[in-house]
Amino acid sequence: MKTKTLDNKASKKNNTEFMPILGTDYVEFYVSNSKQAAHFYKTAMGFQSLAYSGLETGNKNFESYVVVQDKIKLVLTSPLKSGTEIGKHVDRHGDGVKVIALWVDDATKSYFEAISRGAKSFFEPISEKDESGEVIRSGIHTYGEVVHIFVERKNYKGAFLPGYTAWNSDYKTTPIGLKYIDHMVGNVGLGEMNKWVKFYEEVLGFKQILSFDDKDISTEFTALMSKVMSNGNGRIKFPINEPAAGLKKSQVDEYLEFYGSPGVQHIAVATDDIIQTVTNLKERGIEFLQVPQSYYDTLLSRVGKIDENVESLAKLGILVDRDEEGYLLQIFTKTVQARPTMFFEIIQRKGANSFGKGNFKALFEALEREQELRGTL
Ligand code: FE2
Repeated sequence: MKTKTLDNKASKKNNTEFMPILGTDYVEFYVSNSKQAAHFYKTAMGFQSLAYSGLETGNKNFESYVVVQDKIKLVLTSPLKSGTEIGKHVDRHGDGVKVIALWVDDATKSYFEAISRGAKSFFEPISEKDESGEVIRSGIHTYGEVVHIFVERKNYKGAFLPGYTAWNSDYKTTPIGLKYIDHMVGNVGLGEMNKWVKFYEEVLGFKQILSFDDKDISTEFTALMSKVMSNGNGRIKFPINEPAAGLKKSQVDEYLEFYGSPGVQHIAVATDDIIQTVTNLKERGIEFLQVPQSYYDTLLSRVGKIDENVESLAKLGILVDRDEEGYLLQIFTKTVQARPTMFFEIIQRKGANSFGKGNFKALFEALEREQELRGTL
């Protein structure tokens, strides 16, 4: 067993009290067509309209649609004219995650703590106000062109942020049970994983909770390594992947080539009923990676007794893995934009706090079949 649990050692080493992070506030994507992207998240994934910023709100530079499902807030942003930083970002990366916003009590203190520990500034604390109150935000850079924005919203009652108006849409779709972001995975370059592990430890006070080496995550052809970072209250988990040497080009290499830099590889969203959620997503046109049916022939001998019916899981392609604390169910979408970069994971935890190590091989073989079709393996 190569997986290492580093919890105890790390917690002695790190003092996370300088950076109390309450949870994920929002995730902002820079996309080429925010209006259509918002429609996709509503129609295909069950999000609801929350807020809007654009020409109608006096914003002449970009347009943002904010959609929400339970605790998950996604912001879809596109430029309104050429030559903007947002437009250049879309040109370099295609659609992708720009901002992982962190919900804090004090965005000013968080910023200066991070900067004093070596973070690079994205922007200094600013106070934004409207009739609903005040929000203070500040920002730091992380891997690639991704940034973390600290959001202090304890004195705000508006729909989203100052500058946004409530988006009241007559078009409402049925939510599909997505509840919160379980983890967000970053792909970084060869030899860079430990640098970013150190960044999250030193700058944000995260702890390393797991580590996978290339023996854990490899198939006949490709390999990668990963370390999982978590904040103090455990609500934020950031696995960080780097490619490892293999006979063929790994999924991380393919990502880096098409994204043009390190960036967010997948967002795992939690549900309490994965069978219902995935059934709904499939009906709405979301495509998933498929493992061979033989995966299910030996499922129960691998994971022991589970509550779910194996045939239902097999029909949908849902994977199961068990650790010392319980089990989890998970499934991965195909990539969700033009470039083969970002995708979603749907996860239901039944006690397990791990990430599905037992499924890595079957999963990466499924990914390789997709890469083969794209000619990028
Ligand atoms: Fe994941």
